[in-house]
Amino acid sequence: MALSSLPRKIARVLRRDGFFGTLQVIAKNLVHELHKHTPTGRAARNRVDPFDAKYGTDTWGQVEAGELNVDSEFYDLATRYEASWSGPFHRAMSSLALSFAELTFIDLGSGKGRTLLMASDYPFKRIVGVEFSQALCDIARNNVEIYRGEAQKTDAFEVVCDDATRFPLPDGPLLIYMYHPFGDQVMRRVIENIERSAAENPRPIRIVYMNPVHQGGYRDSKVLREVAEDPHFKVYQYVG
Ligand SMILES: C[S@@+](CC[C@H](N)C(=O)[O-])C[C@H]1O[C@@H](n2cnc3c(N)ncnc32)[C@H](O)[C@@H]1O
Repeated sequence: MALSSLPRKIARVLRRDGFFGTLQVIAKNLVHELHKHTPTGRAARNRVDPFDAKYGTDTWGQVEAGELNVDSEFYDLATRYEASWSGPFHRAMSSLALSFAELTFIDLGSGKGRTLLMASDYPFKRIVGVEFSQALCDIARNNVEIYRGEAQKTDAFEVVCDDATRFPLPDGPLLIYMYHPFGDQVMRRVIENIERSAAENPRPIRIVYMNPVHQGGYRDSKVLREVAEDPHFKVYQYVG
């Protein structure tokens, strides 16, 4: 994290979460920092990932939000970057029984873009990644540029460096993907953004929520309904 922006970030968290909440955020970041220097932490960082070795990409690793120089009021509510697992991802895609060619796939919190690459195994109309870290967006743009997969059906990729809470969703049918990218407070804002977009422009929208830790916003929604589940993910559909 850039040290110059630290006081501003701490002041923000203090305003939002109070003194004890701020202590928790600092403790979480300290634990992570210490773990990085343990033998397990070092081994994980030095591991060569078979996917990256095969395709020459850089999608492996874990990056804590605190390590990214992100200027968003939600930066400390972000989960760390780590790539989706291929098994559950492809299981989710096969469970959908949709006509992919009409759909725009959007990964909210796309990180280094591994999911965008895996999504290109399906003939989506467009594949869009939305990520608020400029550093991760740059890596993802390089990855989509160099990736050549045997099963790849499209290279209509776009990586947008923006906050998922305010990203203007494109027209047309959407498949929105999220791999546990943020806490409940941010998820609720993202859901409001989806609901607003759907109310202004009603269209088919499905959401795949991988590792669905924060389901409260979906349960409270009047227009998003759970239509499928798996031990690893939930699928919601816009029914407004
Ligand atoms: C668990 S990673 C998932 C990466 C990718 N979607 C995948 O499945 O491989 C979550 C990502 O969400 C990003 N993120 C968290 N909060 C965000 C926000 N408010 N706007 C945009 N990106 C965000 C993080 O920086 C991180 O890269």
